[in-house]
Amino acid sequence: RGTPSMNDLKDIIRDVPDFPKKGIIFKDITTLLQDARSFQKMIDLLGHRYIGQKIDKVVGVEARGFIIGSALAYKLGVGVVLVRKPGKLPSETFSKTYDLEYGTDTLEIHKDAIKPGERILLADDLLATGGTMAAVVDMVEQMGGNIVECCFMSELTFLDGRKKLPEGKVYSLLQF
Ligand code: PRP
Repeated sequence: RGTPSMNDLKDIIRDVPDFPKKGIIFKDITTLLQDARSFQKMIDLLGHRYIGQKIDKVVGVEARGFIIGSALAYKLGVGVVLVRKPGKLPSETFSKTYDLEYGTDTLEIHKDAIKPGERILLADDLLATGGTMAAVVDMVEQMGGNIVECCFMSELTFLDGRKKLPEGKVYSLLQF
C-alpha cells in the first residue's frame, strides 16, 4: 500500500454506463474522493504545480469544482471564490449564459469576488466540452482578473474542450 500512482487515480474513478442518459459512460469521481489516500494525492499533485506561483484566489465551479477548488485554495493558503448556478448567490452578481448541446446554462459570480489585477487560478473537476470553464474565463476576465491557469482533475481529451479556453493556460491531472 504505497502512495497511489497516476494510473491508480485514474482506475479508482468509476465508470457508470448509461448515466445520465443511455449511451453515456459517466466518470464518477465519488470513488476517488471518498478514498483518503487518493483524495490527498490528487490535491497534493495539483497543489505542487502552483505552490510558489503568485496566486491571489482560486475560483471553484459548482458543484464538484468546489471540492477541488477549496482543497486547492487551502493548500495554497489563498481564498476560494464560488461560481454558482443561478439564484444561489445572495449579493450582487455578474452572470454569463452559455450554449449547451440543447439549450443554455447560466453561471453567476459575486461582483466583489475579484478585483482588477488579481491573479486567479480556475478549478473544476472535469474538462468536457469546455463550455462551463469558457463562461468562467469570460466572467473573470470581464472583472479584470488575470487568469493564471484553468486546472482540472480530469479531462475528456476526445471532446477537445481546450480549444475554447485560453491557449497554453489549461492543465489537467488525469486524461481519458
Ligand atoms: C460538470 C463538471 C464541469 C462541467 C464540465 O458539471 O463538473 O463543471 O460539467 O462540462 P463542460 O466542459 O462540457 O462544460 P455539472 O454541470 O454536471 O455540475 P455538478 O458539478 O453540479 O454536477
